[in-house]
Amino acid sequence: MAGYLPEEARITGSARERALEAFSREYGRAAEVLARAPGRVNLIGEHTDYNDGFVLPVAIDRAVYIAAASRSDEQVELLALDFEERSRFPLSDITHDPEHPWSDYPRGMAWVLREKGLPLVGMRAVISGDVPIGAGLSSSAAIEVATAKALQVLSGFELGDVALALAAQEAENRFVGMQCGIMDQFISVLGRKGQALLVDCRSLEHRLVPIPEGCSVVVANTMKRRGLVDSEYNRRRSECEEGVRLLRRHLPDVQALRDVSLEDLEGFGDELPPGVRKRCRHVVTENARVLAGVEALQSGDAARFGELMLASHASLRDDYQVSCPELDVMVEAALGIEGLYGARMTGAGFGGCTVNLVRAARARAFAESLAAEYRNRLGIEPEIYVCSVEDGAQAERLRPT
Ligand code: GLA
Repeated sequence: MAGYLPEEARITGSARERALEAFSREYGRAAEVLARAPGRVNLIGEHTDYNDGFVLPVAIDRAVYIAAASRSDEQVELLALDFEERSRFPLSDITHDPEHPWSDYPRGMAWVLREKGLPLVGMRAVISGDVPIGAGLSSSAAIEVATAKALQVLSGFELGDVALALAAQEAENRFVGMQCGIMDQFISVLGRKGQALLVDCRSLEHRLVPIPEGCSVVVANTMKRRGLVDSEYNRRRSECEEGVRLLRRHLPDVQALRDVSLEDLEGFGDELPPGVRKRCRHVVTENARVLAGVEALQSGDAARFGELMLASHASLRDDYQVSCPELDVMVEAALGIEGLYGARMTGAGFGGCTVNLVRAARARAFAESLAAEYRNRLGIEPEIYVCSVEDGAQAERLRPT
């Protein structure tokens, strides 16, 4: 059988090869399209996106790959290689497959694209990847975005980057049922190599912010699977909404916590239930930290950025209350290690990963020391990823060799 090579050899990595090989094995022919969508880590700006605030994520060198080819009918056939599970559905009637919950992400994506009236063709696809699942690095957003990219190339419809990210968020909100903000899908589409992305989650204006020379992003997986995340996440969202509703009595122009200043909160905070006041204080101070963090990165001041990361962690732990003992230990363990600028939990919380900004020359040694320190303190073997910051999603049409 003829082998196939990508037209542009831009997409590399073994999860990519696995997807291509499995496609040939599974379907007895070569794939036509290869889509890649990265996971993400957020440097600062946590639980701000659904409050119309600011975030500063990066796309990382761990991604979901989808190898696909079109079908002449309207069936979608999926093989999730890493689970060795299959799921199949017709485009005209997309429902849930409770036995294969992973398939909600590609199903939801196809459902939203079809609702938008985009002409979709059926496809055969293999999904594979190296974004750790349930670790807070947005493997689900990556599956959604990779599915959209694969369908886009196979079906030949136009959809801009921001519209694609919004459609992927809609899949998560309306089909999967998780009320996430826009951050994860946005960075998976729009990330750029070596740069963080400042996103104004109200206007969706965005701007690249270079990571200073000599800095590395090190992600530390506590191995605590995120628990409680959906219910607690939705509860935090409603607490923020309650804060807005109560503050509006005095500040009628406030649409979201994004519009509230620290002075406003000091002035009227007494009228909020104590828990709601704490949630609001986190969001208000976190937005300010993102903007200060952007200035720090732009002036190459990694030490200042690191201080802001630590303050962000404390605020998430004490005010927003979405940390957990494992995340706190991982941050504390990093503090004494040479080369660290700053550390904090990243993502929704309740488990998953911390993000560390580290002097690049020390990154490997830092990772080893952090693993040993965490193991000593908790008796749990963590996974530490020294990440490179990569481009957002791509899809390439493959050609026969
Ligand atoms: C999850 C959500 C994001 C964001 C973060 C917290 O990753 O998907 O939209 O709200 O939590 O910052």
